[in-house]
Amino acid sequence: MNIIDKIISNFINNKSLYIGEKVTISEHMIQSAMIAEKAKSSNSLICSCLLHDYGHFLLEDPDKLVSKNLDGKHEDMGYEYLKKFFNKDVVEPIKYHVLAKRYLAREKKYFNSLSDASKISLKLQGGVLNKKKSKEFEKKDFFKHSVRLRKFDEVAKRTDIKMKSIIEYKDLLSSQLL
Ligand SMILES: [Fe+2]
Repeated sequence: MNIIDKIISNFINNKSLYIGEKVTISEHMIQSAMIAEKAKSSNSLICSCLLHDYGHFLLEDPDKLVSKNLDGKHEDMGYEYLKKFFNKDVVEPIKYHVLAKRYLAREKKYFNSLSDASKISLKLQGGVLNKKKSKEFEKKDFFKHSVRLRKFDEVAKRTDIKMKSIIEYKDLLSSQLL
């Protein structure tokens, strides 16, 4: 099976809920991509959104190739796997979307807007980013897209909107392959 068909089949078959939320991981990622589209984002960023939590699928995939030191870090797992197939512009924001959350959480308003589940995972992810690390992050090439992805991610948990199907993103996914 080629990578695009594999991704589509994972999206269709995955029924597990996004941790602590009422939408599935597939629905959550599709919603992120829909929001990115609405915000007139680039195709690469829409694709990043669509695949940003793909690491969660890999954790459940029996034929995965998981390196031990990536244990449970879904952003690294997703990145390491997807970078074999997709452009850098697509995979780098995926790698940094958790760091972006830790960066944004420095602001009280953003922190308070996080869901309970997201506040708990923030702690596990290392908590609020310190000043020095924040400055380093701001210098990274994919800083802006990582932060935008994170903001779309945060609101992509609704149950009352008409969802697109993963099939509708097939061409977009194909256009971002290496
Ligand atoms: Fe997410």
